Amino acid sequence: MNIKGKHYKTIWLHPNNENIVQIIDQRWLPHQLVIADIKSVDEMCTAIKDMWVRGAPLIGAAAAWGMYLATVEVPASCARDFFFEECYGKLLKTRPTAVNLKWALDEMLKSITGNDSIIESRWYGKTRAEWISADDIKVNEQIGNLGAQLIQEIAAKKNGVVNILTHCNAGWLATVDRGTATAPIYKAKELGLPIHVYVSETRPRNQGAQLTAWELLENDIPHTLIVDNAAGHLMQNNLVDIVIVGTDRTSRTGDVANKIGTYLKALAAFDNNIPFYVAAPSSSIDFNMRNAFKELIIEERNPDEVKYVQGLENNQIKQVLIAPEATPAINYAFDITPAKLITGLITENGICAANEIGITGLFPGK
Ligand code: MRU
Repeated sequence: MNIKGKHYKTIWLHPNNENIVQIIDQRWLPHQLVIADIKSVDEMCTAIKDMWVRGAPLIGAAAAWGMYLATVEVPASCARDFFFEECYGKLLKTRPTAVNLKWALDEMLKSITGNDSIIESRWYGKTRAEWISADDIKVNEQIGNLGAQLIQEIAAKKNGVVNILTHCNAGWLATVDRGTATAPIYKAKELGLPIHVYVSETRPRNQGAQLTAWELLENDIPHTLIVDNAAGHLMQNNLVDIVIVGTDRTSRTGDVANKIGTYLKALAAFDNNIPFYVAAPSSSIDFNMRNAFKELIIEERNPDEVKYVQGLENNQIKQVLIAPEATPAINYAFDITPAKLITGLITENGICAANEIGITGLFPGK
């Protein structure tokens, strides 16, 4: 993605020092673009847990690079594979909902264990983490091409601007590049299609307001920020043609866990006959999960994220309290949208119905 004319991925290996992984530290956006150096597995755990990096595919890529760092820091004297398994466990505990985390960690563990030397483990680790990052970009481009066709069809029927609603940040910043839900938007722009995006702010951490709005602004995509609660009203008033969101974990039966508030948008879209699509790379499909409502762990984060809001005042980033300090709050980070409310899943292999037949039809090996 280009920021002020310079291309950035969200994570990369330091160009002059292969012991360091660099990330865009998203905590300070949109006000400051900060690049952070990550030098150890523990630092990567903090970066994922405290959301310096976030978004399911990027969590996966960050965990992969975390495992690469394990091969950098493994003491020569210790049982290598045991050390790698410990690092796997630490990284796996960082955030529970996005399945990309486990997917990437499993891929990495296979690559870095069972080797004859640290040098070999390190080489395989670097190659695998590079592959996971590159694959994310390729997959997102495929999702972009397929999703843009949906936008093109609406544009042709409507003969006017296509209004797309998205929630949270399933954009470039949630992946290594391009984004999942935003990939069709970027592709539509490249194709010259008339588009406009409604960005829902996404309380409590405001990924929509802070990240998606910034991304779209930097990329010259017409957009408007709305409060989360405005989505239903917009839909009732014919102001939304299509909803495209991301996913942290999609069950093999097509239920979708995504940022809290996604379910309410799906309900409103269903009630107003508006197509509701989920951009779902296969790395975020949990092919082993049948009943998301019973099996999925919904992350609960610090209640202070609900009670405090971060913003800029006199050029300084500050947190302000917006509720009585003593009021208890609860902070579920994700909800589950049942498959019946979803028009389709946009995967890298095609667009399918949100059900087992649709999903396994596109991924027969699974
Ligand atoms: O808590 P976050 O910011 O990691 O949540 C992110 C989302 O819910 C995204 O919509 C999802 O990960 C898909 S990202 C392509």
